[in-house]
Amino acid sequence: RTRTAILISGRGSNMAALLAAARDPAYPAEIALVLSNRADAAGLARAAEAGVPTAVVESRGFRGDRAGFEAAVQGVLAAHGIALIALAGFMRVLTPGFVEHWAGRLVNIHPSLLPSFPGLDTHERAIAAGLRLHGCTVHLVSAGVDEGPILAQAAVPVLPDDTAASLAARVLEQEHRIYPAALAWLAAGRVRVAAGRAVVEGIPPAQGALA
Ligand code: GAR
Repeated sequence: RTRTAILISGRGSNMAALLAAARDPAYPAEIALVLSNRADAAGLARAAEAGVPTAVVESRGFRGDRAGFEAAVQGVLAAHGIALIALAGFMRVLTPGFVEHWAGRLVNIHPSLLPSFPGLDTHERAIAAGLRLHGCTVHLVSAGVDEGPILAQAAVPVLPDDTAASLAARVLEQEHRIYPAALAWLAAGRVRVAAGRAVVEGIPPAQGALA
């Protein structure tokens, strides 16, 4: 099993979905570490309850020294023998150097159908734009913010009475479904990138689209 770290900043519901999937010994990723850049992240307690080692590297302590922060993170990852990183509500932008180092082994979930709505407040923006469909994306991380080859997406309807919160909840349900599936593909070594696109061995693109 591929030793995987989940990086979080907050609630950790996607982390919990990944932990639940990884409880199955046949799941190809072993969650060997949950690391937060905030000591007050609620997900840390959930991870500890599940018996997973946790670590905190307070980004605030580095006062904008991103390279220093990432060097500290790298140290913790190395100490835990981590081979794969899953970002799950990790709200720090990583430097190109970090992203390069982990190329092909760094995956993120984002609450929109990328490349629409990178960044924050995705649900508000989808509603404001009058979209009928919205969703979530699991992608390999490349240097741009919320950019990189797409592994899986799921779409949900935007309903007339939706608020950002009701839409977020509908999307989150799908996040919890597609993230464990996509991480499994990556951990099992089934993902290849060609011409900037991810191809998953044995998964027809249409299935990746629905995941
Ligand atoms: C999730 O909706 C995730 O997609 C989003 O933050 C939320 C974290 O929730 N991530 C981003 O916006 C990253 N740009 P969680 O902590 O309960 O998984």
